[in-house]
Amino acid sequence: MRVLVTGGMGYIGSHTCVQMIEAGMTPIILDNLYNSKSSVLDRIEALTNVRPAFYQGDIRDRAFLDAVFKENDVEAVIHFAGLKAVGESVEKPLEYYDNNVHGSLVLVEAMRAAGVNSLIFSSSATVYGDPASVPITEDFPTSATNPYGRSKLMVEECLTDIQHAYPEMSITLLRYFNPVGSHQSGTMGEDPQGIPNNLMPFISQVAVGRRESLAVFGNDYPTVDGTGVRDYIHVVDLADGHLAALNYKGKDAGLHIYNLGTGNGSSVLEMVDAFSKASGVEVKYHIADRRPGDIAECWADPAKAKAELHWEAKHTVEDMTADTWRWQSTNPSGYPDA
Ligand code: NAD
Ligand code: UFG
Repeated sequence: MRVLVTGGMGYIGSHTCVQMIEAGMTPIILDNLYNSKSSVLDRIEALTNVRPAFYQGDIRDRAFLDAVFKENDVEAVIHFAGLKAVGESVEKPLEYYDNNVHGSLVLVEAMRAAGVNSLIFSSSATVYGDPASVPITEDFPTSATNPYGRSKLMVEECLTDIQHAYPEMSITLLRYFNPVGSHQSGTMGEDPQGIPNNLMPFISQVAVGRRESLAVFGNDYPTVDGTGVRDYIHVVDLADGHLAALNYKGKDAGLHIYNLGTGNGSSVLEMVDAFSKASGVEVKYHIADRRPGDIAECWADPAKAKAELHWEAKHTVEDMTADTWRWQSTNPSGYPDA
């Protein structure tokens, strides 16, 4: 199966390409390298012995998309490309709506023109806002508290209308919980630019000596130890969720929605402890104020994906921390510049 992977050089996209190649699929990568490096391609090739086709360009560039579709007999699209930093989205809403919402619409227009009917979209558990209870099922109400989350919700709503208008299309919305970890080889992983916004990359940069101490954002939440609880999912499990979605729903016209999570929650301090054990390095931390907009706890009910996609997360928190450490300790500055 030939699949166009937008954002395929990024964190989740690159791991998905490896899993796809290993499953005999052909990813065709399209990325503007805004938040990734071209050396990712070398790492994919080193792991799989296959160098995927790579087109450097922007999903908002319709002529570029048309040319990519023309050159390749694409059967389905996995759409990862977008901006993803919550704080930045508050400062730069125009960029987020332009990239995430407008970019997705241009992509779907190009798919329609090329006669490609199968789309998998990277959505997020952020569309559940502050959930009334946990675990979260797909039928929970959706809402957004920041421009990033709103852009994901808007794209979900646009795609719902689009699928309704073009019932031959298969559109799958995958709502990721908290992707962490890296390829087991330690050669691919998360490589945030600047100060990491997310917990795991921050912890691993403290462990490797790039940062002094982790600020734990609040220890007075109504949770097991007062710190925030999230459903951390290994990026390779998440990648496999895309293959399952393609295999089981990619040819099935309709709108399909799935949580991709483990169904287990871990607190910030539990993650710090697990990382210290995995790395043998004591991760320094201090308690800081709550981060505005954070919720106390969030974890998935993944039963629908298990029943319909025959997929479930296999990796443990120990795997996530051990694999992150393997990547961070052998690539302390992330991917090399090409
Ligand atoms: P990432 O930044 O590592 O990857 C995104 C890739 O898209 C990058 O390589 C970037 O260069 C590219 N890109 C951005 N804008 C583009 C454009 N206009 N045209 C072409 N390429 C463009 O992010 P990721 O963590 O791999 O996330 C992938 C997707 O999953 C995103 O849509 C993100 O919102 C979503 N998501 C991520 C998380 C998470 O915690 N990582 C959680 C939920 C959902
Ligand atoms: N945290 C800290 N210190 C840090 C970073 C995070 O204590 O330096 C805490 C947060 O307060 C939270 C937990 O660690 O309790 C996880 O925070 P992340 O920033 O790693 O993840 P979030 O759950 O806030 O959000 C992430 C992505 C969102 C996505 C959401 C659901 O950033 O884009 O997961 O998929 F929508």
